[in-house]
Amino acid sequence: MNIVILAAGMGKRMQSNLPKVLHPLAGKPLLAHVVDTARALSPSALCIVYGHGGDQVPAALASPDLVFALQEPQLGTGHAVMQATPHLDDAAPTLVLYGDVPLTAIATLRRLLTIAGSDKLGILTVNLPDPTGYGRIVRQNGVISRIVEQRDANAAERVINEINTGIMSIPTAKLKQWLAALSNDNAQKEYYLTDIVAMAVTDGIEVVAAQPDAAWETLGVNSKVQLAELERIHQQNIAHALLEQGVTLADPARIDVRGTLTCGRDVSIDVNCIFEGEVTIGDGASVSAHCVIRDAAIKAGAQIRPFCHIDGAVVGEASIIGPYARLRPGATLGEDVHIGNFVEVKNSRIAAHSKANHLAYVGDSTVGSRVNIGAGAITCNYDGANKHETIIEDDAFIGTNCELVAPVTVGKGATIGAGTTLTRDAPAGSLVVTRAKPTTREDWQRPAKKK
Ligand code: UD1
Ligand code: CA
Repeated sequence: MNIVILAAGMGKRMQSNLPKVLHPLAGKPLLAHVVDTARALSPSALCIVYGHGGDQVPAALASPDLVFALQEPQLGTGHAVMQATPHLDDAAPTLVLYGDVPLTAIATLRRLLTIAGSDKLGILTVNLPDPTGYGRIVRQNGVISRIVEQRDANAAERVINEINTGIMSIPTAKLKQWLAALSNDNAQKEYYLTDIVAMAVTDGIEVVAAQPDAAWETLGVNSKVQLAELERIHQQNIAHALLEQGVTLADPARIDVRGTLTCGRDVSIDVNCIFEGEVTIGDGASVSAHCVIRDAAIKAGAQIRPFCHIDGAVVGEASIIGPYARLRPGATLGEDVHIGNFVEVKNSRIAAHSKANHLAYVGDSTVGSRVNIGAGAITCNYDGANKHETIIEDDAFIGTNCELVAPVTVGKGATIGAGTTLTRDAPAGSLVVTRAKPTTREDWQRPAKKK
């Protein structure tokens, strides 16, 4: 089929300079949700009608499988679909979606496409207790005869609860004829796509309807209030899916997934954690409260303690991270690694059983197994112009408050005494200490305050 996504509207009630369809839901533009849904249906043509906000929409979504059609000025939904017609193959039906309706289930669209086939006009409709503002589905003897917009409807039509969601499947050759015959003789002086329904009836084309499983699938975003409501619905759906898979959530209302979270068995997640991008959590791992985890793999049995920020990192099996740890891109930790409070690790591999438990910075480093990195130890990886590597071999001991000035290597089993500024390689098994000799003055007296 062909798919047309209408996304030219201006979204005045968003009170924003950003085009409405680019506002994020779960970290992804509204329109990108609709495009992903459309792609799941494998359309032969996928056309986005844009307008308001200029090139921002094509710039944000650009991809070889998308065609962008400019609608300028915006003269209604029918006029919007007209801009897409050159890209539509007459031999296949055309599915119309809205760029500001992000949560429609693929199964719902499949149901609509199935019932419409290639020769019927299919409309996704829903019954709303309060249908105010929507186009109403007018039926005669149960058969759809037309759609009337709120502003053009009479009192009898306004009490109809069955509304047009805007999502339709339309035989394409007919669509092109009908669009060419639209007029804007209505309350809003717009070319209404909905007017094609009465034209189909006149042409003897059967008009059928399908319904979504849940009404929220068809909700659109016109304001920040509606955006926040849909965000909550979406997050609730994700949380429930995780619970169904056996993940323990301390509170399903206090987790946010902005991407894909994949969990093994017996994973538990405490409140107020945010997952962004692609995150995997292995069997038996736990994430404590207030963690932000992005594009990361947390391996089986690992414990992420409260208030950690993990981005672009791999946490090895049975490792313990935090509280208050920061793992930055390229941090790759082996099994049973302990990273404690106020420790930052960036672009470094730390092998099994090594520890940096307090107040340290490990950057651009390769750290072996069973290494201890003391409190306050720092890899000085940056000389103001370039980054350099630090190598710390197996069983090394880095004392408290050391500076390892890269490039530098600490050999296997070497000990770096507390307070050392290491500017040369430490041979395996050696002790290196750079330390000013203490000066002691027994006769010294503290200055007293002048009277
Ligand atoms: C439309 C339907 C109405 C339906 C409602 C569902 C028509 C005439 N009315 O009404 O029956 O109940 O949606 O929400 O179709 N758009 C463009 N270009 C335009 C106008 C709109 O691209 O010139 C896009 C908008 O960005 C939006 C969609 O089309 O994604 C719907 O536009 P909107 O103004 O919200 O339609 P309504 O008047 O609410
Ligand atoms: Ca709307």
